[in-house]
Amino acid sequence: MLRTRRGFFDVLAGGRSDTGTAALLAARGHEAYVAELQARGANARPPLPPGVNEIRISSNENPLGPGRKVLDAITGKFPETGRYPFNSTPADSHLAAAIAAHYKVKPENVVLGAGSQEILKNAVRAFTAPGRGLVTASPTFENPTSIVKRLNHPLTEVRVDSAFRLDVEAMITASPGAGLVFFNNPNNPTATVHGAKAVADFVERVRKASPETVILIDEAYHDYVTDPSYASAVPLAIATPNVIVARTFSKAYGMAGMRIGYAVGRAETIKRLARFKMPYNVSVFGVAAAIAALEDPAHIEAERQRNTEVRSFTVKVLEELGCACTASQGNFLFVNIRRPAKDLRDACAKQGVMIGRDFPPFERTHARISIGTMDEMKKAADVFRGVLKPVTTASR
Ligand SMILES: Cc1ncc(COP(=O)(O)O)c(C=O)c1O
Repeated sequence: MLRTRRGFFDVLAGGRSDTGTAALLAARGHEAYVAELQARGANARPPLPPGVNEIRISSNENPLGPGRKVLDAITGKFPETGRYPFNSTPADSHLAAAIAAHYKVKPENVVLGAGSQEILKNAVRAFTAPGRGLVTASPTFENPTSIVKRLNHPLTEVRVDSAFRLDVEAMITASPGAGLVFFNNPNNPTATVHGAKAVADFVERVRKASPETVILIDEAYHDYVTDPSYASAVPLAIATPNVIVARTFSKAYGMAGMRIGYAVGRAETIKRLARFKMPYNVSVFGVAAAIAALEDPAHIEAERQRNTEVRSFTVKVLEELGCACTASQGNFLFVNIRRPAKDLRDACAKQGVMIGRDFPPFERTHARISIGTMDEMKKAADVFRGVLKPVTTASR
C-alpha cells in the first residue's frame, strides 16, 4: 500500500499527529524532524524527498493484508483483551484444534508459535547440542543460523546450487550426526522450490544416513507456490518420525503483525519442540484472526492468483532490463542485478522504493525484491528502469 508522506511521519511519531509535530515540520523541515526522532531513539527511517511515497517491498509481506473476515474477527475481540488467550473465545487451544482439523490430524500434532520464528528458534534449542549441530543452506532464512550461533552449537551452511536451489545432495552428505536439518521450501531468499518427490527422497535419505536427526521443513511461502510438482510435506511429517513442518500466517494470510505460526508433526516430535514454547505465546487477536483466516480459503486462492500475476509482470520487467530472476515460487524475486544489492537498494530508497537487505554470499550481485500490489510494482518498475540500465545480449 502506498503510504502518504504525512502518514509516513505520523508513523515515525508513533501515530502522533499533533500540533507540536506540525509546528516542528513547518519550522525546521522533515529532516530536522527525523533527526529529532532519531535522537529520541525512535525507529526513524531516512526521510524521503518531497512528494515521494513509500513502496515497501522489502519483507515479503502480503501488501493487501488480511481479508475482511479476519479484520472483523480482530475487531470483535477488543472486549476480550483483558483475558489470557486460554480464557478467551476462541481460545488458543481452539486454534490448535482448527489447524489440526485443517490437516485432518490431532491437536497433539500441532504446536503454536509467536510467528513461525518461535518454532524455528525452539527447534534449534530443542534439537541441537554442542555435539549435534545445525545443517542449513546458504543463503536461506537466517533465523536458525543466528540461534545456533548464539548457542555456540556446530553449524554447517551448504551453498545453494548453480540454479539457486537447495543443494539436496550436499545437504544429505552434511547431515550425519546433525541435530537439525533446516530445509526451507520455497527457499527465502532464492525463491526456488523442490517438488514433493524430491522432498520425500531427501527426508528418506537423511533419515537413513542419520536416523536421530530432526528435519525441519519451513513452508512459510507454501500458499504462493504454483509449481504442480510441489506439495506440502505435512502428510510426510505426520507419517515420519523426526520431521516437522513449520507454517506461518505472516505471508499469504497477510497477518505478519499478528504473529501466528505453528508446527505440525508426529506427537512425540512436537512434544519435544513444545517443551521450549513460551507460555501464552499467542494473543487473543491473533487466535481469532487465524481461525477466521482458516475459514476463508477463497481469500488465499485470490491472493495466490494476484501474486502470480504481479510476479510474472515484475519478472518480465526485470528480465527486459537484462536482470535474470531465479525461478520464483514465492512472493519475492531473487534477481541478478550485476551490482551490489546496496547500490540498488540505496538508489531505489531515494525514490521511496524499499527493497530487501543483503543476502550473503550473493550480496555483490543479487537483490531480493518482494512482490507488492500491481500498482506498486508498476511504480517500482519505473524506478528500476531508471536505476538498472538495460544491457544488450552481447554485453551479458
Ligand atoms: C522462510 C521463512 N520462515 C519463517 C519466517 C518467519 O515468519 P513469521 O515469524 O512472521 O511467521 C519468514 C519471514 O520472513 C521466512 O521468510
